[in-house]
Amino acid sequence: MARLSDDFIREIKYRNDLGELAGAYMQLKRGGRDLVGLCPFHGEKTPSFHIRTENGLFHCFGCGAGGDVITFVMKIENLDYMEAVKFLAQRAGMSMPEDDYDDSLSKMRTRIYEANREAARFYYQKLISKEGAQGLSYLRNRGLADRTIRHFGLGFAPDERFALGDHLRSRGFTENEMIAANLVFKSRSGNSVLDRFYNRVMFPIIDVRGNVIAFGGRIMSDQKPKYLNTSDTLVFNKSNNLFSLNNAKNSKSDSLILCEGYMDVISLNQAGFTNAVATLGTALTPDQAALMKRYCKEVLICYDADEAGQKATARAIDILRKAGLIVRVITIPDGKDPDEFIRRHGDQGHAAFQNIINGSGNDMDYRMSKLKARYDMNATQDKLNYLNEAVNLLCELDNPMEREIYASKLSDETGVSVSSIKEQVDNGLKRRRRAYRKNEFSQAQRSLSARDDRVNPQHASNLRATNAEESLIAYLINHPDRLTYIHERVKPEDFTTDFSRKLYEYFSERILNNLDPLTALSRDFTSEEQSKIVEIADKYKNMPHTREALDEFIGVILDESSKPTEQDIRNSSAEEFTDLFSNLKSKKTKPNDQ
Ligand code: CTP
Ligand code: MN
Repeated sequence: MARLSDDFIREIKYRNDLGELAGAYMQLKRGGRDLVGLCPFHGEKTPSFHIRTENGLFHCFGCGAGGDVITFVMKIENLDYMEAVKFLAQRAGMSMPEDDYDDSLSKMRTRIYEANREAARFYYQKLISKEGAQGLSYLRNRGLADRTIRHFGLGFAPDERFALGDHLRSRGFTENEMIAANLVFKSRSGNSVLDRFYNRVMFPIIDVRGNVIAFGGRIMSDQKPKYLNTSDTLVFNKSNNLFSLNNAKNSKSDSLILCEGYMDVISLNQAGFTNAVATLGTALTPDQAALMKRYCKEVLICYDADEAGQKATARAIDILRKAGLIVRVITIPDGKDPDEFIRRHGDQGHAAFQNIINGSGNDMDYRMSKLKARYDMNATQDKLNYLNEAVNLLCELDNPMEREIYASKLSDETGVSVSSIKEQVDNGLKRRRRAYRKNEFSQAQRSLSARDDRVNPQHASNLRATNAEESLIAYLINHPDRLTYIHERVKPEDFTTDFSRKLYEYFSERILNNLDPLTALSRDFTSEEQSKIVEIADKYKNMPHTREALDEFIGVILDESSKPTEQDIRNSSAEEFTDLFSNLKSKKTKPNDQ
């Protein structure tokens, strides 16, 4: 990728304040000099996402995401670097510099979107043509109105192996592009490409920006697999997208209805519940929960009534709660899934479903009734077991008022006094708090621990060197005026770890060229690396800023660099070893000699 100029990047950043931009995607509160909020990149309940207003960088202590406003847009809008820069340029009313950069990846992405869009058009045309009669009557027989079919852009893949491939070729798409979109695949002989989908009704999957990113195709008989989906591509990852979120995000409701299947969502939409979404053939992931969190406060889980659906419900409750969402569970009283339920109630579908929404309990009611069903309340031992397990459930509630309500409910059910239930709950909470503190402490320790340092894998075996190197870099970023002093004493070769050396060279060069050290981070580093750099820059706050401290960092770096590495020792003769050793001793006092 040809590089964007620093001036341009600086302007982009100047015109797109990270705090303001991020505020459109999430809630941020002021915490000291930082803006703090729940990380949009992983599910969490206590905020660990920080924006440093003084340098426009973000950092999440939970998942380690970090970077500048460009990286933020890349991650939250799912764009590559150039696309994110364009996004921000557009937002600020700037035009992009003319020079051609090599953006083959982003060009390929664009081509995949275009191929998918053309494929969706093709499938739709087939559906409403003579060839698609079977598909159209299949969908109509399942109760879908023509306007619903059109609204979702449903389609039909004819029972041929070359139909889509030939069509796309005639529209100028190359085989590479079609393969990258997972619309066709190479035959085993390698001589031809075959359509991935044939003889299926097609469900396009559309992202929140309106791009067709994938397809699900349903067979119209009992054959298997019932559904075939696009595999992951450059533009599609099944575990962080949701079917129909493009529609649901525009619904006025504060909640989303989470179902299992495409047909459930479509039926619900037809019945007026446009806030329905579904996972894409996999169990719910924390990424999807975080995605939902951007658009709603509450999720109504409406999985199939069968045992698999109920197991999945228990899992989903957990994931959604962890993401900080309010959860309710809708239980389908008759029929196997929401689609069947709605169909069964015909014209009354909306009212009937609204009724079960209104009667739906929150996740706690759901869990308690599931639990209760497992025990015989007339048997003493069963009742005790139920009480114990129910108390454990109560301990999971953050809200004391909620705990109070369920404690008295439990008391009504079992005849045990509220006060002894509350005592049990209090004991349980204390136990949990202790366990949590222990766990949090060891987690904090681990995150500080060098062993987890993926960006600088040499950290673990070079603790002292890395610490000094990072301190020196923190000092340099905050004191560009000291560059000459530092350069006279420390050469890049003196660095023990490669990542620190790279940073030292990088920041030195920028300072030499009168460039702000941090401006082009997102151009030159990955998000993980940026996150690490934010951490390193943070060190400055907690270290002494004196000349003596600086000399000490320099001293340690030189000292560590003259130590023979394990490799040196293994490869050296006895004589060389002595040399290495005396060399080490003579270097030790160097910085203080100056
Ligand atoms: N699914 C899939 N691959 C399969 C089966 C299911 O990807 N072989 C996914 C689809 O997204 C489907 C969802 O899992 O919509 C739920 O599957 P299931 O309950 O079996 O199907 P229904 O939604 O009930 O489908 P239909 O009503 O068309 O029978
Ligand atoms: Mn179904």
